Amino acid sequence: MPEEEPTTADLVERSDRAHWEGRYSAKAPEAVSWYEPHPQRSVELVQATGLDPQARILDVGGGASSLAAQLLVMGYTDVTVADISPAALAHARANLGSDAERIVWIEADVRTYDFGRRYDLWHDRAVFHFMVSAADREGYLGVLRRTLRPGGHLIIATFGPQGPSECSGLPVQRYGVEELMAVLGGEFTLASSSLATHRTPSGASQQFLYARLLRRPCPAGAARGAASRVTPASPPLGAAVDAERPAS
Ligand SMILES: C[S@@+](CC[C@H](N)C(=O)[O-])C[C@H]1O[C@@H](n2cnc3c(N)ncnc32)[C@H](O)[C@@H]1O
Repeated sequence: MPEEEPTTADLVERSDRAHWEGRYSAKAPEAVSWYEPHPQRSVELVQATGLDPQARILDVGGGASSLAAQLLVMGYTDVTVADISPAALAHARANLGSDAERIVWIEADVRTYDFGRRYDLWHDRAVFHFMVSAADREGYLGVLRRTLRPGGHLIIATFGPQGPSECSGLPVQRYGVEELMAVLGGEFTLASSSLATHRTPSGASQQFLYARLLRRPCPAGAARGAASRVTPASPPLGAAVDAERPAS
């Protein structure tokens, strides 16, 4: 049988996979700009959800992050890490040793993948901001909607309004909390947001926006009232790590 021609989406996916494989093969996981020795802010936000230990947790674009290891320490028993780069997942697995068996590892493109189940929490640090085209954002948000259960929790960290305009050789979209809420649509309500400064291994500072949100339990209400839940403009920058700011 003749092989099917790859679609544009296939080609984009392959090229992105090759890009990230290249990044994780070129440098040690501790040397990449997004490396953090301890995912403190993510851990705090997961704690803030109040989810019980059986909660289904998905870290998209988890890379070689130690968040999955931390979630095990916190007592979570149903943790999945998905990433487009097998090399990244291999690093994370190796760091966990035998505990790696307690995590589900999935090589997946978050713009297209069918996870086949619903999760209680979707965590993303530094992935969504790479979705710079409308097609990429739509793909990502479609998978998010199919995968996060109504009433579930979303933790998302992107570069903030004064963060870098590119990362890892790729352009990024920076977000203030209002822009993030607008792009996510009315299905999500904001629980808290904060700005944080990430220090890269080479000593540079990068501003991140962290947001914790809840997906509305009832899609019928999705369109109503979302705008009124958006917090005021992001606070001025400069503090190394700003305290978590509850939504008004
Ligand atoms: C900047 S790194 C952040 C990694 C990790 N979240 C952390 O905080 O250390 C971005 C990650 O997203 C992954 N990634 C990029 N595009 C992706 C996609 N379309 N689907 C799944 N993962 C993707 C990359 O392989 C990489 O591991």
